[in-house]
Amino acid sequence: YQRCLFMAMFIIAFYAFLRVGEITVRSHSNPNLLLLSNVSFKTIAKASCMIITMTNFKHNLGKNPVHLEIKPQPIRKFCPVQIMKNYLKVRGVKDGPLFCYGSGRPISRSEFCKVLKSALKFSKLDSHKFKAHSFRIGAATQAHLQGFSDSQIRVMGRWHSESFQRYIRVSLFPTL
Ligand SMILES: *[C@@H]1O[C@H](CO)[C@@H](O)[C@H](O)[C@H]1NC(C)=O
Repeated sequence: YQRCLFMAMFIIAFYAFLRVGEITVRSHSNPNLLLLSNVSFKTIAKASCMIITMTNFKHNLGKNPVHLEIKPQPIRKFCPVQIMKNYLKVRGVKDGPLFCYGSGRPISRSEFCKVLKSALKFSKLDSHKFKAHSFRIGAATQAHLQGFSDSQIRVMGRWHSESFQRYIRVSLFPTL
C-alpha cells in the first residue's frame, strides 16, 4: 500500500507542480489538502488524462477553481496517470484526503520527508540535495529545459494569480 501511495505522491508532486502543503498536513487542519473529490479522469484526444481541480491554494483563496490536466506518458512505469490509477485501486473510493494511509489518515509533512530521504538513499542520491519542495522546483526546471517560456511556467506552477488561466495543461514531455 505504502509503495503505491508514495510512488503516486512523488510523481504527481512533480507532474502537477504541487506544493508540499497540498499533499501533506502539519499539526493543524489544512484547507489546501487535496481530496479524492479533486481528482477525475477524462479522455482527451484518445488519451486517458487526469484532471486535478483546485480551489484552495496560495494566491487563489475565494477564487474560481483551476483544472490541471495531466497527460499520460508513454513509458507505463513512469506514467503519472497509470501510477495514480494503481494507487487509487488500493486506496478505494472512500471520501477524504487524496493521499492517505489505509486508515484514511493523511500523510504528515515529516513522514513524507522521511520516506523521500530513504528513497533517495536507496537510489544512492545525495539526500541533502533534495527536499520535499524539489518536485515542484524540478518540474519548473524541466519545463524550462523543454522550452516553455517563463510565463507558461508561472501558469503551470500557479505562481501568479493575475490573468490566471482556469484550464492549465501541465503535461511535460516524457522525461526519459
Ligand atoms: C477539493 O474539492 C472540494 C469540493 O469537492 C473543494 O471544496 C476544495 O476546495 C478542493 N480542494 C482544494 C485543495 O482546492
